[in-house]
Amino acid sequence: MRAEVLDQKFQAFSQRMKDRFKPLLSAPLHYTSVRRGLEMIPYLGARLPAWHRTHPFDRQYGTDTSGVLSAQRIVTDKTPASEICPYTGSQPSIIRRAIAALGETDKFHFVDLGCGKGRAMIVATEFPFRSIRGVELSSRLARIARRNLARVGRCFPARPPVAVVEGNAITFPLPEGKIALFLYHPFGLELLSHLTIEMESFLSRGNGPLYLIYYNPVHGDVLDASPAFTRWYADTLPYDDSELGFGPDTEDNVVIWRSINGEAATPHPHADRPIIITKPKLRAELAESCGTHTLPAQGQLMSPNN
Ligand SMILES: C[S@@+](CC[C@H](N)C(=O)[O-])C[C@H]1O[C@@H](n2cnc3c(N)ncnc32)[C@H](O)[C@@H]1O
Repeated sequence: MRAEVLDQKFQAFSQRMKDRFKPLLSAPLHYTSVRRGLEMIPYLGARLPAWHRTHPFDRQYGTDTSGVLSAQRIVTDKTPASEICPYTGSQPSIIRRAIAALGETDKFHFVDLGCGKGRAMIVATEFPFRSIRGVELSSRLARIARRNLARVGRCFPARPPVAVVEGNAITFPLPEGKIALFLYHPFGLELLSHLTIEMESFLSRGNGPLYLIYYNPVHGDVLDASPAFTRWYADTLPYDDSELGFGPDTEDNVVIWRSINGEAATPHPHADRPIIITKPKLRAELAESCGTHTLPAQGQLMSPNN
């Protein structure tokens, strides 16, 4: 009995120590040079957490889009850390497939709300968009994104024009014409609800049409409930083999909504797949299509358009 109590006390003590020192130990990993230096040490390099390893995408383009920046380091006077998701880059193969689901892209402006270091914007430059824009709350990340995109622009001068703005996604002015809005789970429920109201008002003034690509749609229920949007696409997409080990999972989920003011178009098959929250505030997955799905034992279910 005494040994059990001691064991519990030790477990609680080591958890407290981990909670206290983990942020201190991981802080140097915010710096690219530190991460790259550690990667060169054989044993240590192979054991860096997935997000901190240099992604093959960066080796391909010579950019710096890997790593993590915590919400505490992004926070501003007006946006609390609780509403901000940390910076981590999305998986390029998944963005490519999500963009491909739009069909021809040459009439679209691509806008990344919460563009971080610009990884999704760089992937978008592989497609013939009319323009590519990104907005980012953190000045440090916006600066890195500009540097990355300038490098890509120098190597591929024929790619679409790009612009990165430092600012808040909610007040970012959307362009006129057809828009592909990209979100890689950038913020919490309050900001996404606010953004949805802004988009509804924007569309009611005759703007758009707007396609909203939500990668890891943790607050997708807000868009399902909006009268201005309807489902266009929903799928679980596996990481490309070369990306395995460079993110915490092996597949991610993407849902695309389109504004109802667009042309009447038939959605992709199974676009109505319900969203399940498997890690509160962190991860969304998709159940089977409505009508044929069996609900998972755990998780919170959200049906489209309810
Ligand atoms: C998960 S990262 C996504 C990065 C990028 N879109 C990608 O796909 O690689 C989320 C980003 O959203 C940014 N962010 C969070 N709230 C924001 C806001 N209100 N306005 C602009 N950017 C925001 C964070 O600073 C972070 O860089």
